[in-house]
Amino acid sequence: MPSAVPASEQSIADAADALSQGRLVALPTETVYGLGADGLSAQAVARIFAAKGRPSDHPLILHVGSATEAKKLAAHWPPAADRLANAFWPGPMTLILKRAACVPDAVTGGQDTVGVRIPSHPVALALLKAFATVGSGVIAAPSANRFGGVSPTRASDVSHGLGGFLEPGDMILDGGSCEVGVESTIVDLSGELPRILRPGGLSREDIERTLRGVENAAVRPSESAQVAVPRVSGSLESHYAPRAQVHLVSPDQILSVANEMLTRRPGTRIALMPFAGQGFDADGHDPRLIISGMPDTPQAYAQRLYAVMNDLDRLELDAILIARPPQTVAWEAVLDRLRRAATRLDDSATVGK
Ligand code: TXA
Ligand code: MG
Repeated sequence: MPSAVPASEQSIADAADALSQGRLVALPTETVYGLGADGLSAQAVARIFAAKGRPSDHPLILHVGSATEAKKLAAHWPPAADRLANAFWPGPMTLILKRAACVPDAVTGGQDTVGVRIPSHPVALALLKAFATVGSGVIAAPSANRFGGVSPTRASDVSHGLGGFLEPGDMILDGGSCEVGVESTIVDLSGELPRILRPGGLSREDIERTLRGVENAAVRPSESAQVAVPRVSGSLESHYAPRAQVHLVSPDQILSVANEMLTRRPGTRIALMPFAGQGFDADGHDPRLIISGMPDTPQAYAQRLYAVMNDLDRLELDAILIARPPQTVAWEAVLDRLRRAATRLDDSATVGK
């Protein structure tokens, strides 16, 4: 099983060679680590699905190094795509477009559309550039976790979660902690009106502001995005979920809910994720509780979220209680991931409401 190697000129060149030979390369992006393969090779892409344990009808995002490369993957490039690409690429935004004939069915799950983005992480960009000289320059990459699990934001998360499913010759490139911490925002431009399919690293406000004035490009309201959810695997109810039961509770009730659980079942192993501003790191709580104070701002919270969840996941806890962030647009991507993590079971998500 391959261990992570620090990203360097040499290891990036090796990784580009590995991709051109049909191998898997886990790579850092600014959002989360991706599990990469040659995006124009059906055989290489098939290995991604096998390693992740992901159903083959869930489409993958293609990563490229320039808008010129992105255009080659699309049959149609609408004005809204130009506007968004100019404003936000490289960056945490994926565009869904009608696909070009060169895109394998294995990538799109048989759909007539394709997801494309230019990541901004310097290691991802260097790898894309190196791979363009020895191969197709197109990297298909879902988040580098087993299907349904928590996405990785550190190379060590990839080794823990996926290491056992990689083969000799595959690689994990270590490029440090991901800066954004949640996945890209997915904007569907394949229909009549743009539609946000998944909130993410780029805010809805930024997208709407940028599309203003483009013909036929007012973003459809989010309710309609719900209708389309089965096309996006991250839209399955229980996604991004740790193995412990996750409960979203109001911040001021988090301690009383935990104490109640401990009284009912004294052996229960519980972690709390309050806001750092609540001051829980001080003494005075039950020593059996594991406390991970979370940042008070949405960007910093997003950057920490998966790392904390992956760490807690390794402790084999019974429950994780998370202080619910405010229900505002700024917290949209974080709330989306928290809700999915909490919908793993029964009515657990309603505790403390
Ligand atoms: O930030 C990200 O987007 C990360 C990094 C590695 O780039 N990637 C990522 O990939 O989150 P993944 O596979 O975990 O999630 C991609 C989502 C899936 O939910 C998939 O269904 C959706 O994108 N998707 C891909 N192609 C699509 C298409 N043609 N139509 C609709 N949804 C699509
Ligand atoms: Mg994923």
